[in-house]
Amino acid sequence: PKILLLGPPGAGKGTQSSNLVSEFGIEHVTTGDALRSNKGMDISDLGLEYDTPGEYMDRGELVPDEVVTAIVEEALTSADGFVLDGYPRNLEQAEELETMTDLDVIASLSVGEEELVDRLTGRRVCSDCGENYHVEFDQPDADGVCDECGGELIQREDDQEEAVRNRLDVFAENTEPVIEYYSDREAFVEIDGEQSLDAVWADLKDAVEDEL
Ligand code: AP5
Ligand code: ZN
Repeated sequence: PKILLLGPPGAGKGTQSSNLVSEFGIEHVTTGDALRSNKGMDISDLGLEYDTPGEYMDRGELVPDEVVTAIVEEALTSADGFVLDGYPRNLEQAEELETMTDLDVIASLSVGEEELVDRLTGRRVCSDCGENYHVEFDQPDADGVCDECGGELIQREDDQEEAVRNRLDVFAENTEPVIEYYSDREAFVEIDGEQSLDAVWADLKDAVEDEL
């Protein structure tokens, strides 16, 4: 299946994408991870505000559309089934996506603001494989080490409280209109992302299976 996963920063898109990948054998196309592997890429020739993606990301700002759209376009042409996470984040990107692929499921995870702040400031990520953990809600088996690969768990630069608040503002201004844009599609389903990890996964899995 071709799945689009929408939702604010910290809604659980990365966490639930891992579940979708294992369950349905599809690819995870994530602009966040792709950009994190290219934080230092020289984009100064585009004549934009900053010279690397990382300078936008660490502040919680959106990386310019032309950089992100190129990444998604390349990843989607090679994928049969996928879960797309982190794109589109504004209406311009949503219009770009229409020219690239159709979608079987458009799932939107909704979570309230205070819960998002708790999740993001408590998140830890594997520095090797990128798997998500949480100091309270989703601890690894061994302290400070990734269950999947043994890598070291670190805090993302943009999970500091100030950047988190900025990301939530950017979401409200740019990405909420994208959810609105998709909300009357037949493929659209809203999922209560404030439930436990397992309950969110159960709802999401049902929504995808309904479309198969
Ligand atoms: P990106 O990496 O996409 O960050 P994001 O959207 O802010 O999403 P997150 O990864 O922070 O959250 P998530 O929803 O995946 O939540 P998670 O599963 O980790 O983007 C980073 C940056 O890249 C952007 O700010 C921007 O600069 C740039 N960028 C990316 N795409 C772009 C685009 N298209 N255009 C322009 N710029 C772009 O969960 C969070 C935490 O909560 C975890 O610790 C997890 O364990 C915990 N948790 C999850 N679910 C639950 C639950 N049900 N109960 C309790 N805890 C839970
Ligand atoms: Zn790992």
